[in-house]
Amino acid sequence: MNYTQRMLRDNAFKGKTIVVTGGGSGLGKAMTKYFLELGANVVITSRNIEKLEKVKIELEEKTKGKVLPVACDVRHYEQVEAMVKTSVNTFGKIDALLNNAAGNFISPTERLSANAFDTIIDIVLKGTKNCTLAFGKHWITNKEIDKVILNIVTTYAWTGSAYVVPSATAKAGVLAMTRSLAVEWAKYGFRFNAIAPGPFPTKGAWDRLLPGNLKEKFDLAKKVPLKRVGEHQELANLAAYLISDFSAYINGEVITIDGGEWLKGAGQFNMLDQIPEDMWDMLEKMIRSKKRKS
Ligand code: HXC
Ligand code: NAP
Repeated sequence: MNYTQRMLRDNAFKGKTIVVTGGGSGLGKAMTKYFLELGANVVITSRNIEKLEKVKIELEEKTKGKVLPVACDVRHYEQVEAMVKTSVNTFGKIDALLNNAAGNFISPTERLSANAFDTIIDIVLKGTKNCTLAFGKHWITNKEIDKVILNIVTTYAWTGSAYVVPSATAKAGVLAMTRSLAVEWAKYGFRFNAIAPGPFPTKGAWDRLLPGNLKEKFDLAKKVPLKRVGEHQELANLAAYLISDFSAYINGEVITIDGGEWLKGAGQFNMLDQIPEDMWDMLEKMIRSKKRKS
């Protein structure tokens, strides 16, 4: 067994319906596929209904699950409310919401227009708020319990990051929302958690964060202590675990899945891993000799 394989047992999600925003591409699609393989029905949403319709056909062919594609721009609350209605009318009840939709691109902050900054905040923070509020109100009104909200953030939600400042600002807000509602809405029987992925190659992210030859210039695998990027299945395994009842006592947590990437950037002396093994004898001697003199 290894990390590219499916973790949960077959039918672990039988009878569950999960909404995945941005479920038609990249990591959202990978997680959707796995949820379907586990027996769930999945509502996939994004702005592009043609793409979602194609993904529905592809994933229903590959799995036994049922996919409902719904056009919904998460920036607009009325569209989100309509998406909640369509989902509930189709499946009767929704068990989990995966806030995965995002917008992002690299740019020096001073080059951004006010609208460019707002656009990212609106997709990531306002979009997550819109979906969380609309589903939360629906569940509370109908006295439905045992719901899971899983938010996708990033490690720079707490470290911050230059050149993706709107995204870092918005993801930090999503993390604060995750932790706040984990406490406030526990009384309604809802759990909130977040996943902070490191580099998991997707077209959506790579085209906007590593355009042109930046992919070769800044090989993200080299920044990761484990020297590789993430496999979509290992993220899907973690998401499925956090949505499943196996994680019933995990609430308000953010789980990092990045091969140690952000910690490598954080530790002040982590750069010493560039020192070759045989230099350590000499360095040790130099350090010990100083100690004897003082
Ligand atoms: C400066 C830019 C820009 C750029 C757009 N804008 N691209 N400004 N540099 N490269 C400006 C526009 O000029 C406009 O401002 C404003 O941003 C909105 O742009 P639109 O194109 O009108 O917006 P829209 O069509 O809504 O598209 C949103 C988008 C786009 C975010 C710009 O890239 C998109 O649809 N992205 C969705 C998918 C995505 O981003 N995936 C990556 C997620 S990766 P003005 O003032 O001119 O009106 C991720 C990973 C994190 O989050 C961690 C990785 C390790
Ligand atoms: P992606 O393929 O570009 O996915 C983004 C999704 O969001 C798309 O399906 C897009 O669909 C949807 N979306 C964008 N704007 C939307 C809007 N206004 N309304 C509704 N849907 C919208 O990128 P990804 O790499 O899979 O990213 C998925 C998640 O993982 C994001 O939250 C991202 O921040 C996070 N993440 C990714 C990485 C990574 O290495 N890939 C690392 C850390 C975190 P449409 O364009 O059709 O609307």
